[in-house]
Amino acid sequence: MSLLAERLKRIKPSPTIAINTKANDLKRAGNDVVSLAAGEPDFDTPTHVVDAAIDAMRRGETKYPPPAGIPELREAIASKFKRDNNLEYSIDEVCVTVGGKQVIFNAMMATLSPGDEVIIPAPYWVSYTDIVLLCEGEPIIVNCGLAENFKITPEKLEAAITPKTKWFFLNSPSNPTGAAYSAADYKALAEVLEKHPHISIFVDDVYEHIVYDGFNFVTFAEVAPQLKERTLTLNACSKGYSMTGWRVGFAGGPVELIKKMNMVQSQACTGTSIISQWAAVAALEGDQSFLKEWVQTFQKRRDICVSMLNQTNGLECPTPEGAFYVYPCIAGCLGKQTPAGKTIKTDEDFCNYILETEGVGIVHGAAFGLEPFFRLSYAAATDVVQDCCARIQRACAALI
Ligand SMILES: Cc1ncc(COP(=O)(O)O)c(C=O)c1O
Repeated sequence: MSLLAERLKRIKPSPTIAINTKANDLKRAGNDVVSLAAGEPDFDTPTHVVDAAIDAMRRGETKYPPPAGIPELREAIASKFKRDNNLEYSIDEVCVTVGGKQVIFNAMMATLSPGDEVIIPAPYWVSYTDIVLLCEGEPIIVNCGLAENFKITPEKLEAAITPKTKWFFLNSPSNPTGAAYSAADYKALAEVLEKHPHISIFVDDVYEHIVYDGFNFVTFAEVAPQLKERTLTLNACSKGYSMTGWRVGFAGGPVELIKKMNMVQSQACTGTSIISQWAAVAALEGDQSFLKEWVQTFQKRRDICVSMLNQTNGLECPTPEGAFYVYPCIAGCLGKQTPAGKTIKTDEDFCNYILETEGVGIVHGAAFGLEPFFRLSYAAATDVVQDCCARIQRACAALI
């Protein structure tokens, strides 16, 4: 008898972590390698946030946290939803989790039974499908390509719905494409969902603060208030406040669902580190002005990537509205040969070629459910991003 559970056979290790590991191994072996595979800002956590954590520790706030989160943070989250998203939540309608990822885990664990379907537009963030699979649900993948700017259309959503559909996932701005939904996009999807009251909507806003060219960020429940009681809105301190290592995520949603998610969390890990929770209070309630500067820096890097990759043989790079990723299409490189005589048959071949010849770690589109593309994260120093794009240009020019 195997020690391992059957459900574990349904999931795979994170491909983004695998690329990072391969890049780091090559680096350790003395190669000139840069990884643009990871999804975390390269900025330091703001000083006032770090200070709040130190103060909390000195006050003795070092004990078990309440599973639902400390009241001060739940208040700060409710205020944040009101301030940024025009959403009214009581503190019983919000929860605090160990990073945004655990919102997904708690929600799926609390709601999915074997065979329940979850509609996930592709390309998607890699963890969506694996968490659904781990919780014994069935991901229903809907391909959303370049022609639709990587966004699901009402027609495609309607076609994917069955009596078994439990959740519909939305992520804007998106990982891996940076594409973002407008109020009009959301309203059109809401019209479909209104006809299907058995479906709950999961909305991932973790890149909310990182939008460009004056893009007007909106969240789904804000533009479809009639569906707020069926919507779970996920957010986190990780990306917007450069707090990936602090592990603070949060969500707003219907009180019964939040209660059950808290129950899952209380048995899984008790709760989010109380020190991190006090840091999150400072992040959400403190000065927000640094965000503008960070976004300007990201936008400069996005513009470099889009411009350089669009001048690269065989690539087509759409301009993302947000997040810190570009998702160029490599269709023009397929079938070509590398100088070593290997044919590029897939986007994975392409990414291996770029890593092995030019030392740039990027993630193949198949990992996010839509080929033939790659994801490049420009959350790295601007000159590094520019140098990596030049290396990709060189590698593509060498293909025949
Ligand atoms: C779309 C998306 N949602 C959620 C998360 C989870 O973030 P956290 O680090 O807070 O768990 C990520 C992290 O990469 C992400 O890209």
